[in-house]
Amino acid sequence: MKISVIGTGYVGLVTGACLAEIGHEVMCTDNDASKIQTLESGGMPIYEPGLEKVIPKARKDGRLKFCANPSDAVAFGDAFFICVGTPPLPNGDADLSAIDHVARVIATEAKSPKLVIEKSTVPARTGQELKRALSVYGRKSNVKFSVASNPEFLREGTAVADFLHPDRIVVGVEDEATERQLKEIYKPVLERKFKCPVHSPECPNVPPPAWLVTTINSAELIKHASNSFLALKISYANMVSDLAERLGADIGEVVRAMGMDPRIGPSFLSAGLGFGGFCLPKDLQAFVHLAERSGVDFTMLREVEKINKKRIDHFYEKLRSALWVVRGKKIGVLGLAFKPNTDDVRFAPAIDLVNHLLGEGAVIRAYDPEAMERARAILPQIEYAKTAYDAAKDAEALLIATEWDEFRKLDWDRIRGAMARPLIVDGRNLLSPREMKDRGFEYRSFGRPD
Ligand code: UGA
Repeated sequence: MKISVIGTGYVGLVTGACLAEIGHEVMCTDNDASKIQTLESGGMPIYEPGLEKVIPKARKDGRLKFCANPSDAVAFGDAFFICVGTPPLPNGDADLSAIDHVARVIATEAKSPKLVIEKSTVPARTGQELKRALSVYGRKSNVKFSVASNPEFLREGTAVADFLHPDRIVVGVEDEATERQLKEIYKPVLERKFKCPVHSPECPNVPPPAWLVTTINSAELIKHASNSFLALKISYANMVSDLAERLGADIGEVVRAMGMDPRIGPSFLSAGLGFGGFCLPKDLQAFVHLAERSGVDFTMLREVEKINKKRIDHFYEKLRSALWVVRGKKIGVLGLAFKPNTDDVRFAPAIDLVNHLLGEGAVIRAYDPEAMERARAILPQIEYAKTAYDAAKDAEALLIATEWDEFRKLDWDRIRGAMARPLIVDGRNLLSPREMKDRGFEYRSFGRPD
């Protein structure tokens, strides 16, 4: 099928590249011309594992193209995936202006019937507005548009594998013809008719995805409800962690046993600095606003947000009580990305933490395996280290803010030797308290006996 993908951020680029990987002809466009230029010249505007294999292959086979002019993308595709950003407005609502703009471009330029698929995360009922916008903006052309919602459940860092081996594919449609078109698009994923480029030993054993056909409103609601529930799970674990800290219990032991109950499940119960990134925090806010506007009191989710914001203060208090005075102290920070295996620092707890520390007069030297370039743009005032060892040099405390695997494997004796004071505050419960103590560190973490 000929498919155009509008927006080449984390979602759009992965979607476009993977659709080409499974056999479609794909044209990706973005209003940021420099991104398109980077992609056309073989560069990668983001770090997302797997893309470095999929994109060059699909380009070489002629199935993946990039264009800066949206009109070319409209002329190219029979189906469009809208993957533009829906960032938060100052009041927390999702800003849907990019979706409106895309609707205008498609409606005014299309010459033949098109299927328009929302992939960006949007509040319920956006599909209805999109349909209306397409018919208003396209009223002179008489072209027929069908609209569908196909929310993505990709996680940054594993997005390519998530696209190719999803647990479910949700399609919100209004008629059977649209469902058939979407099924045709996803046929290779549903029937597993492709050779997985990010092959892992589990790949052949992953069961095929569930195919779920819903209304457009339900599909939109599924996405927001899922992300908000994940956020709720994390905040819940963080509250239990605070309690464990007071009672002398170990949060690791508690959530391990909780997670063995299939009704609860083991994921998203890791206590620490809390959730960040461009999805969970903004989706939670937008969901609460949607509920309020719909007359539903969902204050429970406001608590989730509040608990998450307080994680930074809680972490800072651990550091302050260990250091006594923070002002003027040299502090090393390991991790700036909002989670491992990404260079994304948007709404990263690590960035909030560094800002907090700067406000308290600390002197920061930070290291992240992939996110330093992006961090530099928003935090130009701190020092950036070339390695984790360099970040630890002469530091009076070393903070772990992102759980990169690389940090697990560090030579901790070398780190201890480099530090002015061997104090570790672990915001992601990455290390073992006993092992760190045996190695001669003062070690603090969340919800575990020090
Ligand atoms: C999230 C969802 O997990 C995806 O299903 C969804 O498709 C995506 O948002 C989206 O809406 O596009 P992502 O933002 O990549 O994916 O990140 P997550 O893996 O969900 O992690 C979010 C944050 O929660 C990170 O800061 C992570 O460190 C934190 N987290 C996660 C915890 O603090 N504790 C946990 O137990 C798990």
